[in-house]
Amino acid sequence: MLHHSTAHPHLDGARGEAINHVVRFSARSQYRFFVQDAEAPPRILARHATSRPAYVHSFGLSERYLILAECPLVVNPTAMLLSGRPFIENYRWEPDRGTRLLVFERDGGQLRGAYDTEAFFTFHHINSFERDGELVVDLCAYEDASIVDALYLDNLRTEPPARSMPVPPARPRRLRIDLEGGGVGGEDLADAELELPRIAYRTHNTRPYRYVYGNAAGDDWVDRVVKVDVERGEATSWRQEGCYPGEPVLVSRPGGSAEDDGVLLSVVLDGARGTSFLLALDAATLDEVARADVPHHIPFSFHGQFYRDP
Ligand SMILES: [Fe+2]
Repeated sequence: MLHHSTAHPHLDGARGEAINHVVRFSARSQYRFFVQDAEAPPRILARHATSRPAYVHSFGLSERYLILAECPLVVNPTAMLLSGRPFIENYRWEPDRGTRLLVFERDGGQLRGAYDTEAFFTFHHINSFERDGELVVDLCAYEDASIVDALYLDNLRTEPPARSMPVPPARPRRLRIDLEGGGVGGEDLADAELELPRIAYRTHNTRPYRYVYGNAAGDDWVDRVVKVDVERGEATSWRQEGCYPGEPVLVSRPGGSAEDDGVLLSVVLDGARGTSFLLALDAATLDEVARADVPHHIPFSFHGQFYRDP
């Protein structure tokens, strides 16, 4: 049996839980959420049948709900098992399906509802929370799934404008689900690009928040660190000519109280020198605080993590 889990489990410190999502591929495929705490082995929290599973990279978590954005990049599981093709090349973009937001109760695992929106594609959820009868779901949205093909190295190694597939932008988007009425509203959180989003997770995940950090691309490749103020709809950025920063990881100041009191850590490739450095930015201002050069390049990665020395 083939399973596909996300690399983005949620950790709920208040409940002492880790939650992740798995697609279980078979003739009767299922979306499954698992939960694990310190007391018991992992158990299935919610399950939902699907005949054409969507590609799922992450999911949303609010205090009461699990949110699965079922984008219309879908696969025929039986055909995939026999195709011999790379995993992602079995998926098809079928925008007429739209994108469906499946909302499950964290307590009991029941499907709270399925809420339809126009088609979009996403890798990364930013945050989710409930406010004024709405379930707010923030994520980085693409118009379609062409980013999957655009990220092939053969394509990326061809510089614009000769590149056959441009790298499309992701935009920070807010979806607002009316849990009673069933409607879904939405708008961009700022006139900005944003991917690889990070928030003050420990203090603000599942709750209203103000700031999200990430990367954005110029004409060529990811070339800036971005901070979006989702309350004001404003974006600021850090960039340096010829430099290509990776995911900015927010490290909150120990004992700090402000949401953006801390530093952002990003591994940056200096294209001119051919070496990388670890950049530390003030998370409030995006001013440079420090950098640590290394005498070689560090290959690009998608995600990073910071762990305190216990
Ligand atoms: Fe990811």
